[in-house]
Amino acid sequence: MAIFIDSSDPKEIKELFAWGCLSGVTTNPLIIAKEAPDADLGERIREVLAVSWGDVSVELTTETEAEMLDEAAKYHAWDPKRITIKVPFSEIGLRVLHQLAKRGVKTNVTCLMAMNQAYLAALSGATYVSIFSGRVRDMGYDVKPIIRATRDILDREGLASKIIVGSMRHMMDVNEALENGAHVPTITPPILRKMVWNPRTIETIAEFNTAWANRGKKK
Ligand code: E4P
Repeated sequence: MAIFIDSSDPKEIKELFAWGCLSGVTTNPLIIAKEAPDADLGERIREVLAVSWGDVSVELTTETEAEMLDEAAKYHAWDPKRITIKVPFSEIGLRVLHQLAKRGVKTNVTCLMAMNQAYLAALSGATYVSIFSGRVRDMGYDVKPIIRATRDILDREGLASKIIVGSMRHMMDVNEALENGAHVPTITPPILRKMVWNPRTIETIAEFNTAWANRGKKK
């Protein structure tokens, strides 16, 4: 079990890694375009690598097999042990995945909406298969049985791929992913912070601290 952070913001990543419960980072082109539209990708990812540990997913943005393999080689060189190539799922994506897997490059097959897609990616040697919770729901489907069925088939067939569940829109999406067999929920900074917050916890701590501060005083 592990938790990844879904962000490319080095400041947030540094702050939240200090909690000690995170063990990897996922980014995608949309996240980086929103968070740092003018950033140089290489510099941004190196900053992320410097303030985190574990696997850091960087997504391919080109569309032909040759271009994708070149792009993957460039990203992989930034840190061969930690950079995980995010491969968008498609027929070409599977070809690219197969090549990268043969070379021992870590991969994260992304934009998956169904168990059968995740199964193909797992058979082709994906390190991670990423199911998109919020986007499945946007289509009107329940993501829970998709995560469950994917975990069942990976376990039944002894496939090594780990299930990442991303596209989290709410704290309950994290719980659902964990309860249904996700190996790794990847969570945005605002949702991570909400997971810490509970009014009864705050109230209880305040009650204890007040009692301690007032100990020995007459009522
Ligand atoms: C996962 O790896 C993706 O980066 C991400 O969670 C996509 O989610 P979205 O639906 O918020 O774009």
